[in-house]
Amino acid sequence: MVGFFKSVREDIASVFERDPAAKSWLEVVTCYPGLHALWCHRINHWLWKHGLRTLARFLSQITRFLFGIEIHPGAQIGHRLFIDHGLGIIIGETSIIGDDCTLYQGVTLGGTGKESGKRHPTLRNGVFVGAGAKILGNITIGENCRVGAGSVVLHNVPDNSTIVGVPGHIVLRDGKRVVITDPKDVRDPLSDVLIKLAREVKELRQRLSELTHQPMQEPECEVAIVLDETSEAGEQDAKGEAGFAVYYDYQI
Ligand SMILES: CC(C)(COP(=O)(O)OP(=O)(O)OC[C@H]1O[C@@H](n2cnc3c(N)ncnc32)[C@H](O)[C@@H]1OP(=O)(O)O)[C@@H](O)C(=O)NCCC(=O)NCCS
Repeated sequence: MVGFFKSVREDIASVFERDPAAKSWLEVVTCYPGLHALWCHRINHWLWKHGLRTLARFLSQITRFLFGIEIHPGAQIGHRLFIDHGLGIIIGETSIIGDDCTLYQGVTLGGTGKESGKRHPTLRNGVFVGAGAKILGNITIGENCRVGAGSVVLHNVPDNSTIVGVPGHIVLRDGKRVVITDPKDVRDPLSDVLIKLAREVKELRQRLSELTHQPMQEPECEVAIVLDETSEAGEQDAKGEAGFAVYYDYQI
């Protein structure tokens, strides 16, 4: 019980930290349905763990009716989750959410419909998920990742990444711009096409340089893409040339 009230205090404090609109304790306690749903979930999760599964599910449906947030009582949620607005959030049974995460309205932590057992995502500590984002399947979103509003994420995401779009692709990693991500990390049809094009342009440059007996010209355009598919993206050299952070070893 002491633990419950301690976490309630932490939850309220985290609203003040993360929502500039929060003005007073009374306002936070009465006007944040995300907090109410979270507190109900803690009770429902306790019931679930103690074998009262039907009661836990029934109460989670009442919570959903009251606040528009559906959290399966089996979901494991860490400390200081901040659910802002909250309407339409769905958190599946085998989801795991670390400490200090933030979810906006319309977020789904769901299954793909093709898996059984652990079939919902794991969010590590400090993950931020924008409005309407869908994170699907038994995948892991690394620490301090930021998932853009409206994204659909289907693959694991390494720590400290910003991922946006449908399908989700990494645009920032460890503070550096990633224009096209390593296809081993996030498979994106557009990236695949650009990677093929880049390879072809590189071969044509080499051929031209052989035919003209001139050294190969350095590319000038500000787009960096992956060509080295054999090593981990994070281990490749950052060239950091004029005006933009080049993450990979070739430009088109
Ligand atoms: C992704 C997000 C978290 C920003 O993260 P960030 O690490 O600060 O990244 P940046 O803002 O520098 O954006 C990086 C790139 O991703 C793009 N981007 C950002 N958010 C995007 C989104 N939701 N969908 C598609 N692209 C997006 C930006 O345009 C930028 O690309 P560019 O440099 O080519 O212009 C933020 O844009 C976002 O989506 N926040 C959600 C907020 C929300 O849900 N609010 C609801 C309030 S009710």
